[in-house]
Amino acid sequence: MGMTTRNRDGLWLGVGLAGIALALAIGQSQKRRARGAWEWSGNAGQSNVACVTGASSGIGLCFAQKLAARKHDLILVARREERLRSVAQELQDKHGVSVEVIAADLTKTADLERVAARLEVLDNLEVLINNAGFGVTERFANSDVDKQIDMVTLHATASMWLTHAALPGMLARHHGAIINVSSVAAFFTLPRNVNYSATKAYLNVFTTALHSELIGSGVRVQALCPGFTHTEFHSKLENFRKNGLPEVLWMNADQVVNGSLDALESGDVIYVPGALNKFIAQLGRTGILNTIAARVMR
Ligand SMILES: NC(=O)c1ccc[n+]([C@@H]2O[C@H](COP(=O)([O-])OP(=O)(O)OC[C@H]3O[C@@H](n4cnc5c(N)ncnc54)[C@H](OP(=O)(O)O)[C@@H]3O)[C@@H](O)[C@H]2O)c1
Repeated sequence: MGMTTRNRDGLWLGVGLAGIALALAIGQSQKRRARGAWEWSGNAGQSNVACVTGASSGIGLCFAQKLAARKHDLILVARREERLRSVAQELQDKHGVSVEVIAADLTKTADLERVAARLEVLDNLEVLINNAGFGVTERFANSDVDKQIDMVTLHATASMWLTHAALPGMLARHHGAIINVSSVAAFFTLPRNVNYSATKAYLNVFTTALHSELIGSGVRVQALCPGFTHTEFHSKLENFRKNGLPEVLWMNADQVVNGSLDALESGDVIYVPGALNKFIAQLGRTGILNTIAARVMR
């Protein structure tokens, strides 16, 4: 006897839910967590420095605000110098910390070299947040290749280079933390997001592999993988209708940054903020949505 449509739908629903449950179970079993508590040093009399790239808006600005509130002196990096200077003034006035501004385009080798050189000579760098980034919405073949190269340089090369500059000092002091701001896009392979997903996946693999070298060193690394977050990010994208997405999918930068800083202490190496984003990331790992999106979004 042939299957009715209702039976077939029920079967597919069952297979889908079983797949999701399996993915969640595998995800949990693969979760890497650094062992032992990581504590902010809070040395009396010794100021600790946090460097944040992309601190002129959005998630980076929020990291700068939270770290200043924890009494970190700051090094803020981005291209819009005026914005950085006004953030610096505000945080100095509000929290009594000292803030250094480095205007730099991190897609340019000379600027990257300058920021890396600054980090290398610091003897009190506690936190590095590699956050600067941007998105694209075009199909890869139609896009400007220079923009794609800039994306690889900014997301992958700059994060790797600044991490390399920061690590020796942190290792010598047996203390430090590096957060690489990735994305839930790292778990997907979606059309019009080719190089964004690829560079964010690089950050996840880079961070996880680096973690395995750093076990027991006192230095923590985290790949922070936000989903849709209210910042300036989407207003810079061509053909992106932000109000086409339901509010339930969005978080604000405050929630993302608070979660990330807490996860640093608890030791998540890949940290996805928000229950819905965690679920979406697991779905991404199954590949189901990629297959559907490859058909409907092309
Ligand atoms: N918002 C989201 O939904 C979302 C989701 C997942 C992941 N993320 C990631 O979160 C990070 C922060 O993005 P956001 O959402 O906060 O967006 P945003 O508000 O647009 O902030 C991006 C920051 O990166 C800086 N930046 C961009 N290009 C740069 C360059 N060439 N050199 C130096 N700095 C540069 C920008 O500063 P200047 O323009 O002043 O240089 C700005 O401070 C990015 O890595 C992004 O991929 C965002």
